[in-house]
Amino acid sequence: MVSGISIISNRLKEIEAPVVVCHIDADGLTSGAIMVKTLKQIGKDVEVLPIKQLDSSTKEMIPWDRDLVFVDLGSGQIDWTQDHVIIDHHIPIRETKYQFNAHYIGLNGSRDISASGLSYLVSRDLIGDSELAGPAVVGMMGDQMHPKKKLARLAVNTKHVTAMKGLTYFGRETRVLPVMLQYASDPFIPGMSGEIDNCYEFLKKLNIDPKLSYHDLSEKLRSNLIEELIKLASSRGVAVHNMLGEYFILPDWPKKTEMRDASEFSTLLNACGRHNNPKLGIDLILGKNVYDEAKKLLRIHRSLLRRGLDELESTGVKDYQNFQLFTSENIKPTIIGIVAGIALSARLVDPFKPIIAVSPDQDGWKISGRGTLELIEQGLNLSEALKIASKGIGDGGGHDIAAGAFISSEHLDTFLKRLDQALGQQRAL
Ligand code: C5P
Repeated sequence: MVSGISIISNRLKEIEAPVVVCHIDADGLTSGAIMVKTLKQIGKDVEVLPIKQLDSSTKEMIPWDRDLVFVDLGSGQIDWTQDHVIIDHHIPIRETKYQFNAHYIGLNGSRDISASGLSYLVSRDLIGDSELAGPAVVGMMGDQMHPKKKLARLAVNTKHVTAMKGLTYFGRETRVLPVMLQYASDPFIPGMSGEIDNCYEFLKKLNIDPKLSYHDLSEKLRSNLIEELIKLASSRGVAVHNMLGEYFILPDWPKKTEMRDASEFSTLLNACGRHNNPKLGIDLILGKNVYDEAKKLLRIHRSLLRRGLDELESTGVKDYQNFQLFTSENIKPTIIGIVAGIALSARLVDPFKPIIAVSPDQDGWKISGRGTLELIEQGLNLSEALKIASKGIGDGGGHDIAAGAFISSEHLDTFLKRLDQALGQQRAL
């Protein structure tokens, strides 16, 4: 039994008509869907309310007089949420009666387990192991977590998830191999990433049909591909250790769709959530027939990310002492953090400084910060820095490696000055 979980389960059994309030990213939507299905199964009349963040810009949307179940948010806004159920992995502020937070059960919420993993633990306590293990793993992929710890592995160790070892590149299920290789950016392979003709040539030499996807390959061809790719990448000076790893297949979901591969599923959900249709994502997880509609949003998502990255490459970033600033009036506030994260991991910007992205949102500024594991080792904690910098002029929080804030319109300069100072102090420690 996980410490504290029975308090949450008992409370969920008590409340009659809960509203599940979830975040709109893949982890939020999977957490929301897991709780909706679980609560329905125990006979509750449940509603779901996905929101893009819990801050002053969304506070009024919440029906505070109802019994609320916050998932993937809530721990950072404890003065508002303290009387409700919270299942969250963001850095908490203080303990409350019905709060199930990764950090309070000895796990690191930025790396060990996501909100979907925690929601699955609660679900398991209420209804036992179920197909919701799949979405639990999808949420972890969405937040770039690798389930290694025992509690995170409970979802993996079910018949609804198959753990595999192989290439970590994106698109194993739905992209044909040349396209998968062309978009391979972590690690970037010079002469291959971004060079579609060379990808075709490489596959031709290996006698591999370019119309196949990675998952179509026989085991023999797959290991041949991996071996040759590693040889090529090492000969070009690439550190290849990130190229291979564990990934997850969801056998309950149809082949040749994004839902079959947990990483691709998470991107499909992000596309729904970040482009104004989070409920579609929840419906998809709950098995409703909305795949074609979700796929349309995925196409939009991809093209907007591409456009965002082009803009970042052409306008560049402004260098501060302790971070680099990317400002955009065009990129949607809901995806600017993803653009910043890709730019940092693909080394389109300085990989040795955190990136802070800013875009206008309603009557203020949406801030998204992204760092790297190396920077975390040097003391970076974006959640703390954004919280300090936004005190009194906005709300901020999140994780050490990825955090966000909302700042009122006239205070951006103050925020950036304070942020530079706070990040400088973290480096000095
Ligand atoms: O919005 P963005 O993707 O940049 O957010 C990064 C992370 O920070 C997310 O996990 C989000 O939930 C969290 N966040 C937060 N409080 C805020 C803004 C973002 O906890 N005010």
